[in-house]
Amino acid sequence: MKTFKGRTAVITGAASGFGLEASRIAAREGMNVVLADVQQDALDRAAAEIAALGAAVLPFRLDVSKAAEVEALSAATAARFGAPHLVFNNAGVGAGGLIWEATVKDWEWVLGVNVMGVVHGVRLFTPLMLAAAKNDAGYEGHIVNTASMAGLLSPPTMGVYNVSKHAVVTLSETLYQDLQLVTDQISASVLCPYFVPTGIVQSQRNRPAEMVDDKPPTKSQIIQQAMSEKAVGSGKVSAAQVAQFVFDAVAARRFYIYSHPNALGNVQTRMEDILQSRNPSDPFAQRPEVGAELRAALRAAG
Ligand SMILES: NC(=O)c1ccc[n+]([C@@H]2O[C@H](COP(=O)([O-])OP(=O)(O)OC[C@H]3O[C@@H](n4cnc5c(N)ncnc54)[C@H](O)[C@@H]3O)[C@@H](O)[C@H]2O)c1
Repeated sequence: MKTFKGRTAVITGAASGFGLEASRIAAREGMNVVLADVQQDALDRAAAEIAALGAAVLPFRLDVSKAAEVEALSAATAARFGAPHLVFNNAGVGAGGLIWEATVKDWEWVLGVNVMGVVHGVRLFTPLMLAAAKNDAGYEGHIVNTASMAGLLSPPTMGVYNVSKHAVVTLSETLYQDLQLVTDQISASVLCPYFVPTGIVQSQRNRPAEMVDDKPPTKSQIIQQAMSEKAVGSGKVSAAQVAQFVFDAVAARRFYIYSHPNALGNVQTRMEDILQSRNPSDPFAQRPEVGAELRAALRAAG
């Protein structure tokens, strides 16, 4: 997509982190911005800030895991601005711990937001964009889905999140291929960030009451939460930089978007494991002390 000015961006998870930074860039580029998020107070603050930058803004509170709510978002977007040009399916949440300790509610919540949220965004916005492309030879559209490096790797104690993000990677790759079959005017990308300081480690703040378990977290879940807080909190690439990588990739029609290309060695190792039918490599090979500490903590009594 060569031009952003005067066009419309729909951004989910727009009230914090990558979504908020992407909304700031969209406004500075002269786009109309549809800010979609589940957290009302943060959404109100974001909408006021983005409007003050001079953008036409449509704030929309929704839970992206709910089909009817994303349907209402697409209808409201079409009514206000027509078909959007950039759709950033970015809202996401995390939950960790040993994979067999995740509850049904953990699975339903994380897969609901991270997978079905993207499914609904693709399902409801792509037809609007295809119709716009058919009616206007100058129309250009782009869909960006947020996965993670966890969509290309299988880090231990992050199973539910890994499953959700692997799904987003293949969904996005298939979307790209399917679009290539039917149009040259709309393309797709997948964002695979590594650890970046945002609100992601406080995802539980937006967990709906009906998705909360009536039991304390397990030892592995407590350990994983602390490890995530440390890894995300010490990330050196900022959310603003990642959002700029997204706009750069959209302008260049680049599919894979990475925050830390130097972390791709781990992906190569995984691919080599698969190709050589060798057992999964030690994820802590470069930092054995971290693996040793985690093993000791999980095996300790109590
Ligand atoms: N920060 C990282 O290190 C990192 C790494 C890899 C991938 N990601 C992914 O990046 C995306 C954005 O997360 P972030 O890091 O900016 O975190 P964040 O918590 O700062 O932002 C996520 C936003 O999504 C919103 N949200 C949560 N559940 C929602 C729902 N059901 N419906 C609508 N909105 C909802 C939250 O209110 C929040 O505003 C997520 O998909 C996350 O999995 C983050």
